Amino acid sequence: MLDTTALNQQRNFFDGHAEIWLFGYGSLIWKADFAYLERRPAFITGWERRFWQGSHDHRGTPETPGRVATLIRAKNAICHGMAYRITPEVLAPLDVREKNGYLREKVPLTFVDKQGNGTEQSEGLIYLASDDNPAFLGEAPLTDIAQQIANAHGPSGANKEYLLNLATALRELGAEDDHIFALEHQLRIL
Ligand code: BEZ
Repeated sequence: MLDTTALNQQRNFFDGHAEIWLFGYGSLIWKADFAYLERRPAFITGWERRFWQGSHDHRGTPETPGRVATLIRAKNAICHGMAYRITPEVLAPLDVREKNGYLREKVPLTFVDKQGNGTEQSEGLIYLASDDNPAFLGEAPLTDIAQQIANAHGPSGANKEYLLNLATALRELGAEDDHIFALEHQLRIL
């Protein structure tokens, strides 16, 4: 298994900053098991969420990998999530937690106000699993992805819990996401 921990510790896009905005689009939306100063709903543009990254260490095993979220580039798309204002030392344990193919990337993000409108912008950090990482599984029919998710379990729990929690969290944010809601539907009718 690739381990991106050391690579990420060289990716210091916010060197010298006392605080960083970390944008969560997957489990970070509903499972923030790190200290943060503030959190705000936000979105990034030009990216779409997909269950195209294999999980061999959290929501699956090397023999029966699960599938978790990553982002693909998509012109004019909006990906909603949650931004966390953190201090830089929070990143080291996240680098370890997300070591199976995710790399830190710098992105512009837009905060969302209570009416759902985009307000201020800031630079932020995401963890991205791009299509050249060894754990990337890529596109498959939704029914196959839902079946794989239904079957997979790992040290962090059932893969289906990840998908259902993400769908619930996105609904609470008032976010649209056709891929996630279609997968949730497929999973429920299996
Ligand atoms: C996220 O929620 O943004 C995320 C969580 C785990 C790995 C990569 C991204």
